[in-house]
Order: sequence, then structure tokens, then C-alpha cells
Amino acid sequence: RLPRPFTQRLVVPPTLTPVLTGDVDRYEIVARTARARILPGLTTTIFGYNGIFPGPLIRSRSNHPIEVVYRNRLPVPIVTHLHGGHTPHDSDGYPTDYVYPEDMTYLRQHQEMSHETPMPAGDTTNGTRTYRYPLRQRAAMLWYHDHRMDFTGPSVWFGLAGAHIVNDDEEDALGLPDGAREIPLVLTDRAFNDDGSLLYPAVDRTLTTTPGVTGGFVAGVLGDVMLVNGVPWPVADVERASYRIRMLNACNARRLRLRLDPPPTDGIVQIGTEGGLLDAPLTYDAFELAPAQRLDAVVDFSRFAPGTEVTLYNDFGDGGMKNVMRFRVNSTSGPRYTVPSALSSVERLDPASATVTRRFRFQRGTVDHRSGWIIGNSPFSPSEVSASPRLGDVEIWELFADFHHPVHIHLDPFQVISRGINGPGAFDAGWKDTIDLVPGEQARIAVRFRDHVGRFVFHCHNLEHEDMAMMANFVTHA
Ligand code: C2O
Ligand code: CU
Repeated sequence: RLPRPFTQRLVVPPTLTPVLTGDVDRYEIVARTARARILPGLTTTIFGYNGIFPGPLIRSRSNHPIEVVYRNRLPVPIVTHLHGGHTPHDSDGYPTDYVYPEDMTYLRQHQEMSHETPMPAGDTTNGTRTYRYPLRQRAAMLWYHDHRMDFTGPSVWFGLAGAHIVNDDEEDALGLPDGAREIPLVLTDRAFNDDGSLLYPAVDRTLTTTPGVTGGFVAGVLGDVMLVNGVPWPVADVERASYRIRMLNACNARRLRLRLDPPPTDGIVQIGTEGGLLDAPLTYDAFELAPAQRLDAVVDFSRFAPGTEVTLYNDFGDGGMKNVMRFRVNSTSGPRYTVPSALSSVERLDPASATVTRRFRFQRGTVDHRSGWIIGNSPFSPSEVSASPRLGDVEIWELFADFHHPVHIHLDPFQVISRGINGPGAFDAGWKDTIDLVPGEQARIAVRFRDHVGRFVFHCHNLEHEDMAMMANFVTHA
């Protein structure tokens, strides 16, 4: 039932058109179930932003605010977070800021059965919410995805994720490959039942009451099919030219080590990270991406002979999961891009100027009498505040992990100062919003929050860990 690798064509998600443009551009997205064609001859019911997986690509500009109206036609509540967005708290998709379904029938039924379902307080059941994004931030590839309390894992697994690219003048001036030569790749592993439906080991199949996954999946849910932009192990035709390839690891729990074979002469030239352009390019033979991390890279296909098949492999995968996708170099020649040695100037946060050092342990713990994941000594609770940073201050956060934990902080990016096991530096240059901690590792990062006062979360981006309570609040103040 699974397609042979590298036979299905890569597609790029359609770019969303604003419904209104002006000082604030407005977009509309309907979250709904849809039947997708993912595996040959089968249909797969998904949760889709505008009915597609991944959702439509949003393209915005730095400092040009947008708003996105989300309408919920799914049977369950949704919460949308713009990951990497520098966003005020009321638009950040706090896990309990539910957008209830337009049609509450399903939710009401399950509430009667369980008495646990989150139900709207007051008159909030119109099924829509408008999120406002000022986008006072650098050009970068962000992504938007569901963030519902306790159910982010299954909601994203069933399809609620999409890419959002912010551009700015500084980046435009570099004349990077664009149009058909800029390819966003949303990487997700998934598992399927024989009938083509998505297989997710939720304890509560209704996705309304009891959080968590069944026993064997407590470390995180892995799939056995690699999808790129929703297509299993696709193939893409490329010209003999330079391409800008932007990758997002949108897997729930799978870490990737990505490599091109045969390798391009100049390697994989990294130009940017989660928080935008680097100072200077870095060259890799292979690049690690943990869940939620992004890579912005230039790849030169011009030195390959026409007909060369260049395969993107994941060295961390076993068997068929080593394969990701393939590029087939055709005979058309296009422009070669010489990556400038200076890309941007990245401000360095000075650790010596830090006003406080905070310590957080990401570790296994007990959550509702079951085994789960926690930060410090307590499972996530919306009412507990773990840090109160002052806007504008540089802070040191010391993070310790007992297992693989890709740690993500909302609101503002950070810089990695030191790491215990990998040593500082590998894949950690520039502004980051997710750091891939390995078992037993301790890392120090410098973070500075700006502009927005309020309650935000930080958490492990292994979505099963997040749902099983590995999340905490920080409240910023002026
Ligand atoms: Cu990508 Cu708090 O999430
Ligand atoms: Cu984790």
C-alpha cells in the first residue's frame, strides 16, 4: 500500500491570498476535516487548515502587521500558535484559549460522557477567533500549528500545521534564489491504518477528554512513512541551478540528520536558522533538525550532470525511514548563486550582562498518577508561573535534559552560549527558537524578551512530551 519511494511528485503548498490588504493584511483560514489523497488508491481523513495538509503557505513582511481569522469547523476545539512569531499574548495561542467548534454537538456528547471536556465559559461559541500578528521581527520561516492543551500531538498529526515565511528588505537585498527556486519543505513522519486513515495511539480516541498516548508511545509517536509537504517520499525535478531550500521538521517526535547523496560540491550551505539569517554562511555535509527546528540553506545543483538523482537521506532513520525525498537534476541550466560571505549582522546577547540565571530540568515525572514528562517538579498548570522576566533584560536559562528534549520558548528567540555534550556550536549558530537537548545534556542559553507583557509558555516540542505536561509559564513584565 505504501508507494515506492521517489515516485510521487513533490508539491509545494499554495500561497494564501489575503482577503483584505492595507495597513493590516487580513487572511482567513477554515479548519475542517477533509479527505486527502496521500497513499495510492486510498483516501485519508485529515484535519486541514483550508482542508489541506500542510496548510496554505502564508507570506508576510517584517513590520507589516497581519491578522488571521480562524474559523473552526472541526468537531474539537482548536488553538493556533504562530511558532517563531513575536506575538502579543492574546494572539499567541495560549493552550487553553480555545476556539470552540462552530458545531458543538460532538463536544457536548463527549462532555456528557466524561464531565471533563473543556467547555466554553460564557458566550464564546461562535467558532472563530482573529489572531493579530505585528511581525516586528526579522525575516525567517515560521510555522503555524495547533497548540490545544493536552491534544497538540494528535491535532498536528492529523494535519494542523503549515509554513509561514516572513520576508524583509535586508534579505531581499541578497538576491537569494526565489520563485520556483525557493522550495519550502515541511517534513513529517506519519503512520497509517490499512484503510488509509491516520494512525495515532491516543488514549482517548475522541480527542476530547483524557490526554496522552498508550503505553509504548510515552517517549513520542513515530511514523513509518516520511511525508514531505504531505507527499510520501516525493521526487522533485530541479534545474542545474542554485536553490534555496527551507526545511521544517514538523514531526511530532522524530529527530532528523539530513544529508544529500551524492553531495553537492559546495555542501549544504546554511544561511539561516529559526530566527533568520546568520552573520555568515556555514557549510555542512549533514545537518541535524529536531522537531520544530528549521534550516534555511542554499544548494547548488548546477555541477551535477543532467539526470543525476540527488537523494535527501535521514541518517537517524532505520530502513525505509532513511529515505526522505529525491531531487532529479534536469538538463536546463539556471543561475548559480554565490553565497556572500556576509549575510547579516546578528546582535550578540552578552551573557555577562545577564540579570538573572534560571534553571529548568526537563525530566520524567508523574502526571495524574501516570508516567509523563515535566519541567522541574510539577506538571504543566496554567496557573503556575515558573519565571517572571522583565522586558529588555538579558537572562541566562540553564536547561538540563534527562532524554531528548527539543526545548522551545515562545515570544522571542535565544542564543546558545554553551552545551554539555555536543559542545557549543554544532547547528546552534544564530538566533534559535528551539534547542535540541540530548540525554544528560546541560545547555546555557541567553534570552531577552521584548515588547509584549503577559503570560507565555515554554515547553518540550516533542509533542507527546508537551501534551503529557512538559510545559511551563513565564509572565513578562515591564
Ligand atoms: Cu511550535 Cu509552543 O510551539
Ligand atoms: Cu521532551
